[in-house]
Amino acid sequence: MYRKTYARIDGKILENNVKEIKNKYKDYQYYIGVVKNNAYHHGMRVIQNLIRGGINYFAVSSLEEALLVRKYTQDIPVLVLEPVDVEFIDDVLNNKITITVESLDYLKSLNKIDLAYEVKIHLKLDTGMNRLGLKTSKEVKEAVKIISKNEQLFLEGIYTHFATTGVQDFYYDRQVENFLDLTSEIDLASIPIVHLDRSLTLVTHDKLPYANGVRLGIAMFGFSGSRTIGKGFKATLRNIKRNLYVKKYHISPTILENDLQLSTAFSLYSSVMTLRKVKKGEVVGYNASYQVNEDGVIATIPIGYADGVSKEYGYVVIRNKKYPIVADAMDMIMVLVDETVKTKDKVEIFGDTITIQEVKGRLNINAQHLFNRITTRVPRVHVDGKDEVEIKY
Ligand SMILES: Cc1ncc(COP(=O)(O)O)c(C=O)c1O
Repeated sequence: MYRKTYARIDGKILENNVKEIKNKYKDYQYYIGVVKNNAYHHGMRVIQNLIRGGINYFAVSSLEEALLVRKYTQDIPVLVLEPVDVEFIDDVLNNKITITVESLDYLKSLNKIDLAYEVKIHLKLDTGMNRLGLKTSKEVKEAVKIISKNEQLFLEGIYTHFATTGVQDFYYDRQVENFLDLTSEIDLASIPIVHLDRSLTLVTHDKLPYANGVRLGIAMFGFSGSRTIGKGFKATLRNIKRNLYVKKYHISPTILENDLQLSTAFSLYSSVMTLRKVKKGEVVGYNASYQVNEDGVIATIPIGYADGVSKEYGYVVIRNKKYPIVADAMDMIMVLVDETVKTKDKVEIFGDTITIQEVKGRLNINAQHLFNRITTRVPRVHVDGKDEVEIKY
């Protein structure tokens, strides 16, 4: 690494997160780790930690991503959540990838191919997201019939995706009802893997009795989705209101608080590149956007909006002290510091002191978007106990 800007990814933390989730939500057979977008930008090397934690299936967006997973595991099954063009079916078969069937047209074109080996299929049902999936019970019945007649097609799984979080949420209930309706003309129990929940719906509702799989994304990366009910007059009033709303609209009970002990594994660091003294009244950065109030010191840090970091982050930490970011550019930020800061000092953008929770709040984005912001230009240093490996992203 030449430029001292990097993301530190702690694999052990992810391993422990998966163990904790499995320990608190014991009743599933399949814990499907969603590692699309380079494992939510943590880098695919975390796959080995997720497996050690207990993930026994992976899910990704594309065949490209599935092949990346195959660099880390040959045995654990990998489901592609989007349809893979049938012209690439040989690559699917040669790499033992599971595919999603989300329309009858797609299934019919697959059915016409003389397949060299059996292909594993998960049927995707559209219960209300209107993104992918079969939309009627008739279509589902026909799909199951086509698959059962073709010896080279194996219906291993069936799933849907929730559009909302399930928090006092009639739309979650509607999607559950739609799932039961869509599967009413098939023998759901005969399909080996049934998976509906994602991280947030897993923690906000009791287990659906017919599901034996769960797709875990953001929970693995440290977000439990627990909401504090709170104490005191205002919180009590808020809870009474919530309960009345739930009763009035016959909404299924929501589990608001959970005791999952999860941690984030992603920290972002840089270092002080140069320091310069500035006099009261001088300006800093493009458009002379910041004017110095009193004589001081500006530290220039080699991380900018091309790496995903801008002035909106607010602060950085150097030598355990918070300093404000006063200007930004494509490749650098400028920070107002004091005489105690030295060149080459380590700079925390987020990590132990400035939490991801704090930064995502300041930027008003969710954790997925924050991880996604840290671009591929920033090397990931994957830490696994004593081992540290810089990943070519
Ligand atoms: C189909 C599907 N399942 C599961 C997930 C994981 O969701 P989460 O990160 O909320 O657990 C995603 C994420 O986008 C998804 O698209």
